[in-house]
Amino acid sequence: MQLIFATNNQHKVDEIRSLLTGELDIVTLKEAGIDIDIPEPYETIEENASGKSKTIYNMKGVNCFSEDTGLEVDALNGEPGVKSARYAGESRSFDANIDKLLINLAEKKDWSARFRTVISLIIDGQETLFEGISEGHIIPERRGSQGFGYDPVFVPAGSNKTFAEMSMNEKAQYSHRAKATEKLVAFLNNL
Ligand code: IMP
Repeated sequence: MQLIFATNNQHKVDEIRSLLTGELDIVTLKEAGIDIDIPEPYETIEENASGKSKTIYNMKGVNCFSEDTGLEVDALNGEPGVKSARYAGESRSFDANIDKLLINLAEKKDWSARFRTVISLIIDGQETLFEGISEGHIIPERRGSQGFGYDPVFVPAGSNKTFAEMSMNEKAQYSHRAKATEKLVAFLNNL
């Protein structure tokens, strides 16, 4: 089966491709010749995921999926959450986002956090959502150089490494995106 993955984030594409074993062929927006920066104007991760897949389905009429992810920090009342990409501004700088996060957490005692991914799949006009959560905590200094986004300061429960210190396969054992993708694949296998 072929599905368009409605994203321009190559890290997300690489992670999801590494989880697939051949039954599913994902085509990126770039590969499909769709040059669009899909807006993420909503207040929830679910609505943003949904908005992205619906934009592509309405434009092309082809089966597709998208995902939206947020880092939810307990001591910051769930922020940056749906605003994770633009936490420190429109530049969407990973470094500036981490700096802002560490400044806002500096005086807090509880550094627990989670990544939450929602995948929105549209098959023949019918939408289904899949969620994946990775519980963990934020650390005060960056460690590691792999991955992207907040990976250098996030340690998933059950490990003492940050996501940025893990290979893609190692990250997949704990990751929100891998958990949501497993649900997506199981659903597609049952169609
Ligand atoms: P979005 O889902 O494209 O809106 O991404 C939200 C932001 O969350 C990204 O820009 C990254 O900063 C961050 N993010 C999403 N997934 C991950 C991840 O797996 N690790 C670290 N940061 C992530």
